[in-house]
Amino acid sequence: MSTRGNWSGTYGFIIAAIGSAVGLGNIWRFPYLAGMNGGGAFVLLYLVMVVFVGVSLLVAEQALGRYAATSPYGAFRSIHSKFGFVGTIAILANFLILSFYSMIGGWVIYYLFGSIIAPHTLTAEGFQTFSASTVLPLLSQFVFIVLTSFFVWRGISKGIEWGNRIMMPLLFLMLGLIVIRSLTLPGAMEGVRFFFKADFSKINGPTVISALGQVFFSMSVGFGIMLTYASYLGKDTPLSRSSWLIAMSNSLVAVLAGLAILPAVFSFKMEPEQGPGLLFVVIPEIFRQMSGGYFFGILFFLLVFFASLTSSISILEVPVSYLVDERKLSRKKSVIVASLIISILGVFCTLSMGSTLGWFKIYGMGIFDLLDFVSNNMLLPVGGLMLCILIGYVWKPEKVLKEITQDGKHPFFGKKFWPFLIRYLVPLAIIVILISSSGLPEIARSFFE
Ligand code: ALA
Repeated sequence: MSTRGNWSGTYGFIIAAIGSAVGLGNIWRFPYLAGMNGGGAFVLLYLVMVVFVGVSLLVAEQALGRYAATSPYGAFRSIHSKFGFVGTIAILANFLILSFYSMIGGWVIYYLFGSIIAPHTLTAEGFQTFSASTVLPLLSQFVFIVLTSFFVWRGISKGIEWGNRIMMPLLFLMLGLIVIRSLTLPGAMEGVRFFFKADFSKINGPTVISALGQVFFSMSVGFGIMLTYASYLGKDTPLSRSSWLIAMSNSLVAVLAGLAILPAVFSFKMEPEQGPGLLFVVIPEIFRQMSGGYFFGILFFLLVFFASLTSSISILEVPVSYLVDERKLSRKKSVIVASLIISILGVFCTLSMGSTLGWFKIYGMGIFDLLDFVSNNMLLPVGGLMLCILIGYVWKPEKVLKEITQDGKHPFFGKKFWPFLIRYLVPLAIIVILISSSGLPEIARSFFE
């Protein structure tokens, strides 16, 4: 038994990995992206990319993590000494992501309490005032970071796995109840039709890019999270099966979240194309109007809280594993150091939503948008690209396949295509995201105009 910690078994790992994947990305981002990008066509595009891009990367990350049994920095170096920087990028990305993820997690805590004690205050104006203020958002964010740290502090099986074993089944149960409620509202079918009707004329370059970015964010690939989680795994877990299970559960939650939200949005004649405000402005309004809405409102924000907490735990585990494995700090000290850094970055992010730091802009982006942009559109894709290069060209797919299948002992669904995907298709897809989000196409267009 390693001193780094271990999952109690395959189920513990899978439930924690599903907990990491299922998060704000599924419940907050996916329904509004589908809403803004024409519904069903986006859902279909997303699912196709999950299968080809997401699962390929998930298997690759897990193979590297389990093989190296160390944090992303050491894992990349174990294949080639020059690749340590990729681990550093992953750690940096997790710090940046958690600084804004914890801000939204804090909002969710505030909304959970608000749903219990004063649902009438959760209006559009209430949200404006709250998110632009200082004390309450900072306090909520701090509580969210402390809760996240608590589980990571307790270790892999006694903390992370334990928390996920409790929260994830409850999450599925609550989501099921909310979907049933939403689908039984008058006029709900219009929302279902919108969600599943594929309007392919809405699929264009930016839609493809959003769907791809969503695959990365939602499946927690490119962060080094799945690599880190797999580093606590024994050789007897079939990685292909676990990857498919994680990918399918994650997509199922995204689709169920759409079915929980969009039918209700249509039933109450609200706009599905609201963007990020859907969760904090439109949804509380719907619960205020719905019969039984008080109960379902609490259930909904509890569900979002569990989803965000089980993801933020996994994000914090990446820098913590680095401090434990590479800096030889104890787990407890590592959690304190990493949480402090995240809290400091997080304060800047939260204050940028109000007048204190709202004036601070780089290329027209405030701190929150900047952190979101740099991590999701740059660091995660670069991390994913480097992983493809390392696995596809340095470690070589034949050898990786041996690690994945443990010399043929475990099945690997899609084994024939995986080397092609990881060497060509996935890197190409990532390069497209990187180029399109770099602003180069606009520069080129303006040059020819
Ligand atoms: N995968 C996590 C989410 O979807 C980060 O929120």
